[in-house]
Amino acid sequence: MSRQLLKVDGLRLRFGGLQVLNDLSLTVREGQIVGLIGPNGAGKTSCFNCLTGIYQPQGGRVYFDGRDVSHLPTHRRARRGIARTWQNLGVIDSLTVTENVMLAQHQRAGYSALAGMLGLAGTWHRERELRRDAAEIIEYFGLDEVAHERAGELPYGVRKTCDMAMALATDPKLLMLDEPASGLSPEEALGLASTLRELRDRLRLTILMIEHHVPLVAEVCDYVYVLNFGELLTEGEPEAIQRHPEVIAAYLGGTAEPEGAEDDAGDDTVQFASEPPEWPLMAEGKSNGTA
Ligand SMILES: Nc1ncnc2c1ncn2[C@@H]1O[C@H](COP(=O)(O)OP(=O)(O)OP(=O)(O)O)[C@@H](O)[C@H]1O
Ligand SMILES: [Mg+2]
Repeated sequence: MSRQLLKVDGLRLRFGGLQVLNDLSLTVREGQIVGLIGPNGAGKTSCFNCLTGIYQPQGGRVYFDGRDVSHLPTHRRARRGIARTWQNLGVIDSLTVTENVMLAQHQRAGYSALAGMLGLAGTWHRERELRRDAAEIIEYFGLDEVAHERAGELPYGVRKTCDMAMALATDPKLLMLDEPASGLSPEEALGLASTLRELRDRLRLTILMIEHHVPLVAEVCDYVYVLNFGELLTEGEPEAIQRHPEVIAAYLGGTAEPEGAEDDAGDDTVQFASEPPEWPLMAEGKSNGTA
């Protein structure tokens, strides 16, 4: 089994009277694609915000690449290799695709984007390298044709790809994706599945992915955590998760029938274990909530 890249231990996050995360623990091993799923408002994006240092949880610890990063600010976690995409997109509409990717690269450049743009002493060489790397990333994601177009003028699916290219531009060890399939067409979602597998298999990237598109989760994830009301409902391989009665109940808002429970209700009882009902939100992407 590969080593642990990310370990989250007992996260607790509260906003006023709302307990958003309650004793949440999870592990992501190197080279895995791990899914984080759960109903709207379950706390998934908040969990990402705690892992990247945007939210400071009231309790718990985050270990990354063998170190406790719980108290590091966002940019220092990014420099250690944590990158993310945003539920509501992180691209800057007024910049071109290339400019967006280069802006993201400056998290690892060692000087500010402004210094690079002004060509201040010592930045020129590095800027050339970054531009070359950016061009490679843009080509990798098939964005070459729109490289010099403003992001705001591009279709949603292309802007999402640009967001992912920006995350990759920071040269991360862990890529965290917040609903990468939302708003994508079925064909685009299919393409995303092969991109994710390639990122894992060819670039040896580790991926933690929030997603409502269950077929995508089932297809690409090695392991899945299910959040509900800020708590871990269950975890396991995607096939088992999809058939888990409590998971189905949490998504459908019904009552869970414990596995192996006596079937007192006779033949009318829904047999979740053999044939799960279609999960909601799996056909169309949805994009709402906080980012
Ligand atoms: N900054 C904040 N201030 C107050 N409440 C917040 C804040 N961020 C998140 N919350 C609340 O925390 C809860 C979890 O929100 P979060 O966005 O993490 O859910 P989610 O699982 O990502 O949902 P979705 O699937 O809709 O994106 C919600 O009730 C939300 O309103
Ligand atoms: Mg969210």
